[in-house]
Amino acid sequence: MTIEVGILGATGMVGQQFIALFENHPWFRVAWLGASERSAGKSYRDACAWRLPVPLRADIAEMQVNAAEPSDAPRLVFSGLDSSVAGEIEGAFAKAGHVVVSNSRNYRMEADVPLLIPEVNGDHLALLKTQASARGWKGCIVTNPNCVVVVYAMALAPLRQFGLKTSIITTLQAISGAGYPGVPSWDILGNVVPFIGGGEEEKIETETNKILGALKHGTVENHPVTISAAVTRVPVHNGHTGSISVTFTERPDAEAIVAAWNSFRGKPQDLGLPSAPPQPIVYLTEPNRPQPALDASRDGGMTVTVGRLRRCPVLDYKFVALGHNTIRGAAGAAILNAELMHREGLL
Ligand SMILES: NC(=O)c1ccc[n+]([C@@H]2O[C@H](COP(=O)([O-])OP(=O)(O)OC[C@H]3O[C@@H](n4cnc5c(N)ncnc54)[C@H](OP(=O)(O)O)[C@@H]3O)[C@@H](O)[C@H]2O)c1
Repeated sequence: MTIEVGILGATGMVGQQFIALFENHPWFRVAWLGASERSAGKSYRDACAWRLPVPLRADIAEMQVNAAEPSDAPRLVFSGLDSSVAGEIEGAFAKAGHVVVSNSRNYRMEADVPLLIPEVNGDHLALLKTQASARGWKGCIVTNPNCVVVVYAMALAPLRQFGLKTSIITTLQAISGAGYPGVPSWDILGNVVPFIGGGEEEKIETETNKILGALKHGTVENHPVTISAAVTRVPVHNGHTGSISVTFTERPDAEAIVAAWNSFRGKPQDLGLPSAPPQPIVYLTEPNRPQPALDASRDGGMTVTVGRLRRCPVLDYKFVALGHNTIRGAAGAAILNAELMHREGLL
């Protein structure tokens, strides 16, 4: 069985990662590419500055890029659109009957839109029951979190059982998170930039609570953890790192926290979804890990690694978490969302 899919924003960093990840996908086949008017009508090879360390497939290179309009796109569409245009375009696709699996921030915090990490809150797909009828859409929109929120929320999810109360995170985010061409080389080489535009800190302080929240009476009740985020851009290609502290209502011992991470599994593992990593969170015992260069690509970039768990003199514990921002934090996340939707009969 093959399901034809379209990619909105196919020429961007996330769009390229979609194309690479679909190459050997057992269910999904790329049949349609969409981007801006600048790219429409060109071959993908001419429209895109391919930046991945794998060759661009010849059949994709020759495909024509379309304008980002529903018309002849397949029913299932993945979106890596720039957020300045994603709201309008994704809404138009959903209205026209497409299932839009989006990376953009525009719909993430809407009460009737699932903000999904399948291992953590796969049950939030139930929000789709009312979405289409309430909005007058024939299709729907499902979103994945901001790229650093995926890593953070996955690291925190197994800790909810200990009464997660407060958390502070300082991020060290890769340049691929800024799209292409992204941050000018002059600004990032040999430097750290203590600011990321687009409300990055606010996204961390709000999206995480929705993801960790519980579905009650058809709506998501946000998790009460209070979060303080500070973000930095660092000269790393791929992999967002977070230095994280947490407090609990009842402080567990360190062994219980490590066991909670290592034993954490969810629907993707239970269902054997094609993009599911065998162990979504892996605790590394080496004192100098995780590191983006060594650990971001573990299990195809779908595993979050954590390490350096130790007592914090201010809060209860501190640790480091890392994930691949354009795979687990973007294209791979959206593909896993669609795989779960397929298995649950929602495509
Ligand atoms: N990079 C990450 O790690 C990451 C992670 C999670 C989420 N995201 C989100 O995913 C989205 C894409 O990010 P990115 O890093 O891939 O950005 P990017 O490299 O700048 O790519 C943006 C894409 O949007 C298209 N686009 C721009 N203006 C358009 C318009 N007016 N109409 C139609 N298409 C238009 C571009 O097409 P042209 O080439 O034709 O201009 C390009 O394909 C963003 O919303 C971002 O916040 C990114």
